[in-house]
Amino acid sequence: LDQEPESGRRHIENNLKIEKVESPLEPSPLPIHAQKILVVDDEESVVRLIARVLERHGYKDVLTATDSSRVMELVHSFQPDLVLLDLNMPKVSGFELLEQIHREVIDFEPIPVVVLSGERARVSRMEALKLGASDYIVKPFDLEALARLKNNLERRLLGKQVHAQKMELEERVRERTRELEEAQLETVFRLGLASEYRDDDTGAHVVRMALYVTALALASGQDKMQAELTGLAAKLHDIGKLGIPDSILLKPGRLTPEEFDVIKTHTLVGAKILSGAKTELLQLAEVIALNHHEKWDGSGYPNGLKGSEIPRVARMVAVCDVFDALTSARPYKEAWSIERAFDLLKAESGKHFDPDMVDLFFQQEVAILAIKASSGL
Ligand SMILES: [Fe+2]
Repeated sequence: LDQEPESGRRHIENNLKIEKVESPLEPSPLPIHAQKILVVDDEESVVRLIARVLERHGYKDVLTATDSSRVMELVHSFQPDLVLLDLNMPKVSGFELLEQIHREVIDFEPIPVVVLSGERARVSRMEALKLGASDYIVKPFDLEALARLKNNLERRLLGKQVHAQKMELEERVRERTRELEEAQLETVFRLGLASEYRDDDTGAHVVRMALYVTALALASGQDKMQAELTGLAAKLHDIGKLGIPDSILLKPGRLTPEEFDVIKTHTLVGAKILSGAKTELLQLAEVIALNHHEKWDGSGYPNGLKGSEIPRVARMVAVCDVFDALTSARPYKEAWSIERAFDLLKAESGKHFDPDMVDLFFQQEVAILAIKASSGL
């Protein structure tokens, strides 16, 4: 401190406040003076002197400690950007503290520790650097020490800024990804809605189907993400209905065999609309659209597949689709009671439906009933 320049004279407004004075050091282009500095030395006069010098050079947030056993507590509560640490102290030694502080990560990296020691020996310097010290300054706390401190604070601040920019960028990417995912989900939902719109303008069938299928997929051992994907893909099961004329799709009463043949083509039309897709979601939707009217005993359409020839996911959807169709009112029919629909599923187990899927469906009975009840439709 004996090297302190004349131009660095402090200006005292009152007993406590020390105004910033012009420093002979190059001013930093970075706002380093707002960074928090913790000064640790067992000698009260030393920490006071250092704090005063720091404040005179514009540092606004300086905390001092003389009891080394309390330093970690202060590190946690004050969260300093830099610790100026003496090595020779009673109770907890500086080396020990250095190791402990270095383990503390605030924001993104260990808190930098600048050692300020009376010890010139190389072995001591080596040991401190080995334990993670950012710098080693030999007392007294002079202009060179201040310059080094400034460098360390600049490095810390730059690191923080880069880290903050990285976090912001990552958040922006996450946000964008979320938006894209939402756009995809919404597009799929609205496409599913379009296919159902003519005979169910509430879209309730599509919504319930996805929930039933998700519940069944979970019960069949799929993880949550896969089960939700399956449920979402199921929303497009009847997309091929877009290709069926109203006169047939909305015909009240029985269809002629020729008309029914036209209805059957909604599976092929749907698969065609979805064919060649790049995403797993739409590929799954294609499989479902094509196969959701196949029956376990081989009497379904369009290909008359039998048993395990039918893709598992389509066997899953078949149960949910029929259950929801039966229990929903349509322009041409009343809704069945849940009991009656349950009876039909049981009766058709091993005929229309995969018996394993029917079992899984009834294992999920509570969830199924809750979905039905909460849809309110
Ligand atoms: Fe269908």
